[in-house]
Amino acid sequence: MAAQRSTTDRQRAAAARRAAHAQAPPATEAPAPSRPVGSTPHDAVIEFRGVTKAYDNTFAGVHDVSFNVRRGEFLFLVGQTGAGKSTLIRLLLKELEPDSGLIRVAGRDISEITRKKMPYYRRNLGVVFQDFKLLPNRTVHDNVAYALQVTGASRKQIRRQVPDILRLTGLSTKLHNYPHQLSGGEQQRVSVARAFVNHPPLLLADEPTGNLDPDTTIGIMQLLYRINKAGTTVLVATHDEGMVNRMRRRVVEMQGGHLIRDEVAGGYGRQGADESTAEFGALMRGEPAPAPQRLARRVEEPDSLFDDAFAD
Ligand SMILES: Nc1ncnc2c1ncn2[C@@H]1O[C@H](COP(=O)(O)OP(=O)(O)OP(=O)(O)O)[C@@H](O)[C@H]1O
Ligand SMILES: [Mg+2]
Repeated sequence: MAAQRSTTDRQRAAAARRAAHAQAPPATEAPAPSRPVGSTPHDAVIEFRGVTKAYDNTFAGVHDVSFNVRRGEFLFLVGQTGAGKSTLIRLLLKELEPDSGLIRVAGRDISEITRKKMPYYRRNLGVVFQDFKLLPNRTVHDNVAYALQVTGASRKQIRRQVPDILRLTGLSTKLHNYPHQLSGGEQQRVSVARAFVNHPPLLLADEPTGNLDPDTTIGIMQLLYRINKAGTTVLVATHDEGMVNRMRRRVVEMQGGHLIRDEVAGGYGRQGADESTAEFGALMRGEPAPAPQRLARRVEEPDSLFDDAFAD
């Protein structure tokens, strides 16, 4: 009998708890999702929070690196050789996994991307390297078309998009050339065309002008600038201090694996200043630049584009 009464009491108490819970304001119903330390802009495309990666248990790599890159920014990553720039880019590409810390892209923790989802993630990232990494036995056209093919693009899309991007990058007359028949600057244009043919929301360039002369460097940087103006967030790792200073964009500096400078609100003026591409070229050269070409369409919102990399 006593046992029966206590069961009824427990049931009543549980019902009362449920009722109280149902009336509670929504904010107290569930704990807020845990956020990393430090403030995160709502439009951050890249977020590093206390990221450490040591190679072979040495001190080389990157250590406790935190920074954000907002949608539409153009950001330089600078630092001497061995500073950790490429490591940072390889972490973003998921070629390396951090030992600790959190990396988010388009608001999502990239450690959650499964191997199966990697192609979806990677096709949202355009990548340009110092050594171009072109396919030597394919023509300019086919190098770029291949980047579309692997994402499952139709022949019609390829027929439309490849000539567009080759026009944009100034390669229309080189369609049938092989990489060894091109100058270094032209090869890098092909690799930029290949990186951008999918109109990715994020473009990463690791020393894109490291093998180029100053004039060719300006042409490539104008191209990256134009891509940024079309809405793609661009991160460029470089040694070229002169170029960085002339471009007056945000600068993040690494030294011995540590982030030592982030000129986010520094003397470089407003991000995405409304210079035309021609004015931008003039800024870099100190002379008038050719008339700008306009990109046909803006890049879609990064969040939606990255979704297929994270969806179940
Ligand atoms: N695969 C690796 N194994 C061991 N150590 C590595 C490896 N890759 C890079 N490191 C070390 O990690 C540190 C950072 O290298 P990282 O390549 O990121 O520098 P970086 O800033 O890109 O240099 P650079 O300007 O020369 O390209 C260096 O001390 C480097 O020797
Ligand atoms: Mg490097």
